[in-house]
Amino acid sequence: MNPKQNLGDTSPDEFRRQLHELADWIADFRQNLGSLPVAPNDKPGAILAALPAEPPEEGEPFEKILGDIDQDIVPGMVHWSHPMFLGYFGWTTTAPAILGEIITAPLNVNAMTWRTCPAATELETLIVDWIRQWMHLPQEFGGVVYDTASVGVMHALAVAREEAAPSVRKHGLVGAGAPVFRIYASEQAHSSAEKAAIALGLGEENVQRVPTDSHFRMNLGAMREMIARDVASRGRGIKPMAVIATVGTTSTASVDPVPEIATICRENKLWLHIDGAYGAGFAILPEKKSLTDGWSEADSIVVNPHKSLFVPLDFSVLYVRNLERLRRVFTLVPEYLRGDTVEAQKNYMDYGIQLGRRFRALKAWVIFRSFGREGMAARLREFVRLANLFADWINSDNGFELVAPVSMGVVCFRYIGSDPAFAGSHPSVSARPAVAPYLTGRPNESDLDALNSEIVERINASGRAYLTQTKLHGRTVMRIGLGNVLTTEKHLGEAWEMIQETAKQL
Ligand SMILES: Cc1ncc(COP(=O)(O)O)c(C=O)c1O
Repeated sequence: MNPKQNLGDTSPDEFRRQLHELADWIADFRQNLGSLPVAPNDKPGAILAALPAEPPEEGEPFEKILGDIDQDIVPGMVHWSHPMFLGYFGWTTTAPAILGEIITAPLNVNAMTWRTCPAATELETLIVDWIRQWMHLPQEFGGVVYDTASVGVMHALAVAREEAAPSVRKHGLVGAGAPVFRIYASEQAHSSAEKAAIALGLGEENVQRVPTDSHFRMNLGAMREMIARDVASRGRGIKPMAVIATVGTTSTASVDPVPEIATICRENKLWLHIDGAYGAGFAILPEKKSLTDGWSEADSIVVNPHKSLFVPLDFSVLYVRNLERLRRVFTLVPEYLRGDTVEAQKNYMDYGIQLGRRFRALKAWVIFRSFGREGMAARLREFVRLANLFADWINSDNGFELVAPVSMGVVCFRYIGSDPAFAGSHPSVSARPAVAPYLTGRPNESDLDALNSEIVERINASGRAYLTQTKLHGRTVMRIGLGNVLTTEKHLGEAWEMIQETAKQL
């Protein structure tokens, strides 16, 4: 080691200078974002090949590192915050969000117990309660912040499992003589259900996928039959355990009929988990309050403010009716932490498998205070308006059809060919229902699948916009998500033109 090397941190003056430089870098990045390609078109491995494979032996100046970020990293990124990024649910980067993240960095606490950072613990409790109020949930629901909804559903099902077979926590599934538990979720529900079943030793195939209706909502008759069949096979050791209802499914943002599902759960004594990862945020709009109908009957609910409440990744809240049920399953205090656990206070390490915890609530607090509910609601309302406008454009073009109703910021649509001979017999725009009764019946559906996929691939490769594709009832469709405050009607119009032109070229 260089004997003159400073063993402490960067000097205060130098750090201040670097921070100013970084502030300019961030402001420039945000200002010029729209002129960058949305996505790179490099071959896999290109970025790795441009970077030194050997770790540095000696420290390098910040300026050089920042320069390499500009040269090698930024061009290799899909810019989720770009106004033409319309993939997934859109994305929610905002100035208050960036400020919230920056403030969190120097504080760098570990909020595992109340005593290790009272402010982080108490602010988390406050933020979780603010969101509870926005979700119209009764006070008996308590929550905890995790990184993602996938982790949330795993914890929720761990509690369901413990309540269905009370000593699994202690003895394991076999030791507790647990049956084969079944979980029911619609075929449109997120794959985190299976991931949770894998992690909990419940078995991926015991997540039973329930068919959906023409609007991609869970088919209740089908679910009743599946539950009844499993109840009848109790002799083979099968036992229904939980239902996952989704409010805002990943592909179409469809909403399962929660009040009716809650009734089925009550009748069969099943845990009801609501996956509101995407859809829940929209409940802050008074006109969308009905999204939360039936929620007070749930056992657990997941809400992802990092999807629809303007908090940057990662920030997900799991609510449990009577949070003590979650604590009972996960509390475990080793001797080396006992001194830092104060009985009367909430120690968030007790509410999940994670011990070390970031101060996530701080960025949410900055954002929620900066926008207020009204500010967030106005922006969400604009996403819904743009989504409906895009749906109108689809509906007025004979070569495309809307394939799912639009209720939030997601639009699913399909190119069906402008040549009627190619597309089979499709009705003229004026004779068509607003949403196609779907996706079957044309002679060449699989050719159309390939075409739809190709349109998305070409647009994404061009770097001018970014869409996603998905499969609905077996057919490939295109999909856009409005969730970015930088995306305007003009951007959307450009994307629509690009889609039409690409379809024409193909
Ligand atoms: C409905 C739904 N649930 C759960 C998830 C998983 O979210 P996370 O990435 O927070 O685990 C997603 C992700 O898109 C989703 O759309």
